[in-house]
Amino acid sequence: IHKKPAASALLSWYDRHHRELPWRISPAMARRGVKPDPYHIWLSEVMLQQTTVAAVKAYFAKFIALWPSVDDLARAPAEDVMVAWAGLGYYARARNLKKCAEAVAADHGGRFPDTEEGLKSLPGIGDYTAAAVAAIAFNRQAAVMDGNVERVISRLHAIDGPLPGSKPQMKEKVAAMTPADRPGDFAQAMMDLGATICTPKRPACALCPFNDVCLALATDEPERFPVKAAK
Ligand code: ADE
Repeated sequence: IHKKPAASALLSWYDRHHRELPWRISPAMARRGVKPDPYHIWLSEVMLQQTTVAAVKAYFAKFIALWPSVDDLARAPAEDVMVAWAGLGYYARARNLKKCAEAVAADHGGRFPDTEEGLKSLPGIGDYTAAAVAAIAFNRQAAVMDGNVERVISRLHAIDGPLPGSKPQMKEKVAAMTPADRPGDFAQAMMDLGATICTPKRPACALCPFNDVCLALATDEPERFPVKAAK
């Protein structure tokens, strides 16, 4: 009988092994009532699309030093924002960043909407960013899926259907696992697990909180997942 992967196993791993990131509120701080700044979470998630955590750290620090609030970013000359972004690549992201800040300032009184739907109505915020900000900044039970999470979930369930067609199935599995009490930590824990343990090559299965339930590990070939459609 296949025991189901439990969010609680992942959350206790995350309590001990989470990465310290400049925008992140650690579980210990969260327990003391410290809340994440939605502006920080949004900014970091936009920067992290197609850019590594290591590269994002310095840019994140520069942006919040130059523009401490979303209203400051909304008022900044577009030219200055593009210059600060230089080196991160994908410049459409920087233009959308500025547009989104302007919309939050002008239409929402400088406060980010606190639901997935509200967030998706903003320029440049798609499914991924809406779910990530809703979960991490507002502790909403949103299913957050990026490349790291796809790898973790496809291995846990040995999902043979190739990407991208299997995405909806994977998203259902993530939604079914996402706990009501700590959805933000759960999302961040799935991403940390994918980045540090459940890596594309030579995953560190001995250290994984799911190694007792992972179907890919049971078949002894975790690296076979996620399966990708032939090009
Ligand atoms: N990659 C993208 N967003 C992330 C997050 N919030 N935590 C860890 N890795 C991430």
